[in-house]
Amino acid sequence: MEAVVYLNGERVDYADARVSVEDRGFQFGDGLYEVVRVYGGRFFYLDRHLKRLQKGADEIYMELDFGLDKLKDICKKAVAEGGFKDASVYIQVTRGAAPRQHVFPEKSSCTWVVIAREAKPQPSQFYENGVNVITVPDERWTRCNIKTVQLIANCIAKEKARRAGAYEAVFHRGGIVTEASSSNVFIIKDKKLITHPANNLILHGITRSVVLEIAEKLGFNVVEETFSLDRLFDADEAFLTGTMTEVMPIVKVDGKMIGDGVPGEMTRDIIEEFGKLTETVDQ
Ligand code: PDD
Repeated sequence: MEAVVYLNGERVDYADARVSVEDRGFQFGDGLYEVVRVYGGRFFYLDRHLKRLQKGADEIYMELDFGLDKLKDICKKAVAEGGFKDASVYIQVTRGAAPRQHVFPEKSSCTWVVIAREAKPQPSQFYENGVNVITVPDERWTRCNIKTVQLIANCIAKEKARRAGAYEAVFHRGGIVTEASSSNVFIIKDKKLITHPANNLILHGITRSVVLEIAEKLGFNVVEETFSLDRLFDADEAFLTGTMTEVMPIVKVDGKMIGDGVPGEMTRDIIEEFGKLTETVDQ
């Protein structure tokens, strides 16, 4: 089954789905998106994704001219109609089409798109053996908590990683690790789990929030504080989190080994608990 597409609330064939040449998402990157994961037909924290979308809309003065309940229904319909069990659902909302000018149009209706397709899970050996990452300067703007479709800095970083044969690019701002091109970053040092505070310099990842809850449940010592590149290199364990990345152990940074060069014990405990949630969560 190919992707199931809904455009402005209507089911359309993938090949026929079209938006205006003057859509502000296209011209200005004036839009927001979410990627939601479905396991065994169950949505994994869809409500949290929709809440983040609403928050982002408020931040950029974008009035969502449709109810989030309706959007939720469409997401569910798209997955059901595709007969997908393990799926990714891409949601994009832009400020809509209007003659090009920077100021927001007085009248425009949002363009909203839902694309559901079969999820392509990462190879299992990535989780078993860990992945290598590179570090790159964080060249993005300073409102990274808003999940806008303006992703060129992220794309450049990911491309650098690909060219270096690495799985992901970890951003640092003046030597402080923020997050990665499409995931959040955690380190573990002396049994303490550390990740960048949820402020304007990182996306407040849904998977990040789930992992923080798991860590609490496991009784881990958790702190949300900034850490330097040096601390990343010196970590006992490190991992990435993201909707499609899930919880991915990092075993090498810029060619230097992390810990013993294999996924650490605390990371493996978190992965195990995360796996259990993917088998039960449906919200
Ligand atoms: N990316 N940080 C950035 C910059 C991201 O783009 C993402 C997600 C995350 C993790 O957030 P979450 O756990 O809510 O997926 C962190 C999505 C999946 C993407 O761009 O495809």
